[in-house]
Amino acid sequence: MNWRTFLAPYVQVVEELKVKLKGMRAQFEYETNHSPIEFVTARVKPISSIKEKMKRKNIHIDNIETELQDIAGVRVVCQFVDDIDDIVERLKSRNDFEVIEERDYINHKKESGYRSYHLIISYPVETIHGEKKVIAEIQIRTLAMNFWATNEHSLNYKYEGRIPERIRARLKRAAEAAFKLDEEMSKIKDEIQEAQRIFRTDKNNHK
Ligand code: GTP
Ligand code: MG
Repeated sequence: MNWRTFLAPYVQVVEELKVKLKGMRAQFEYETNHSPIEFVTARVKPISSIKEKMKRKNIHIDNIETELQDIAGVRVVCQFVDDIDDIVERLKSRNDFEVIEERDYINHKKESGYRSYHLIISYPVETIHGEKKVIAEIQIRTLAMNFWATNEHSLNYKYEGRIPERIRARLKRAAEAAFKLDEEMSKIKDEIQEAQRIFRTDKNNHK
């Protein structure tokens, strides 16, 4: 297996998606008072993680292109829960890729407390051998969900997936708190946006 050759189209896809989603963000900034996108991150799964997941999920090397769906991963982080639906709808109506699966871990949170909306897409990318359809995962979540998931991910890494029960219970409480935070922020969303609008106009006037 030549990993560099195998991963090249995934690197391309991640770069293209980053440009496109950041472009969306910029356009929202120019044209609207509120961007539903706070920031965008993207990565190609490290080879060691690919191997670990193949083992854990018992995926044969011949099937990784279809079964390992997060080799190319993009994350869209939003301020408000409502922004997630907005982004999901916009992504689903695009013509440059196809959504092949949706996972709603917001209305159906995971046992760990994890919340996010996932879209699995099939992205046609041009390679030197012609067009290739590459599978990628787009995770859409709020800042609060992201804060929780990032910390939980670090703990999982530290404890190699076996987080002690005491800490797991704490994490569930933290997930509850993150959920409440999202709810409270949604309630004062209009106030916050008004403030951000004034701040932006102010800034522009001084330029
Ligand atoms: P893995 O969870 O990676 O084995 O992927 P999967 O093929 O079972 O799909 P799933 O939708 O469960 O997870 C896809 C991705 O979502 C993961 O790679 C993580 O980035 C994220 N994710 C899922 N569950 C959790 C969780 O409990 N905690 C955190 N921090 N992230 C999660
Ligand atoms: Mg999983």
